[in-house]
Amino acid sequence: MDDVTLQELSEDPVAVRLGEEIYQTVCFSCHGHRLEGGTGFDLRDGEWIHGSEPSSILKRIAKGFPEKGMVAFEAVYNESTLANVVAFLLSERVGFRELQHQVFPAPAEASSW
Ligand code: HEC
Repeated sequence: MDDVTLQELSEDPVAVRLGEEIYQTVCFSCHGHRLEGGTGFDLRDGEWIHGSEPSSILKRIAKGFPEKGMVAFEAVYNESTLANVVAFLLSERVGFRELQHQVFPAPAEASSW
């Protein structure tokens, strides 16, 4: 599956929701409920040791890191299910999250006008 398709999937709330369910079932134990990392890496920061393109992320999950304890998830889920997990990870990226929090505060003086 290519980068564009995965990027588009990350804007699809249904795919993201399905991916999140998988993540919170099987991935959180090593990567944390909020993707903060643990035994596994922090999956929110811009740092991708093994490649930041959505297609490389998908491949990492499919192949796993058997020597580090992360199984090859292609043995468990089909490609479209794993693509939903990638969509969820992309939707949670710190940059995206912070954009949503960019609410302009009302100036302090405003109320006294
Ligand atoms: C048993 C623990 C464990 C589980 C469960 C696990 N991971 Fe991992 N994961 C790891 C470890 C450890 C690494 C770091 C591998 C290394 O040292 O290169 C990793 C690395 C990764 C990476 C590469 C990060 C990078 O910076 O390039 C991704 C993506 C990833 N995991 C996604 C997932 C997803 C999605 C799931 C659930 C489907 C999952 N992992 C489940 C332990 C786990």
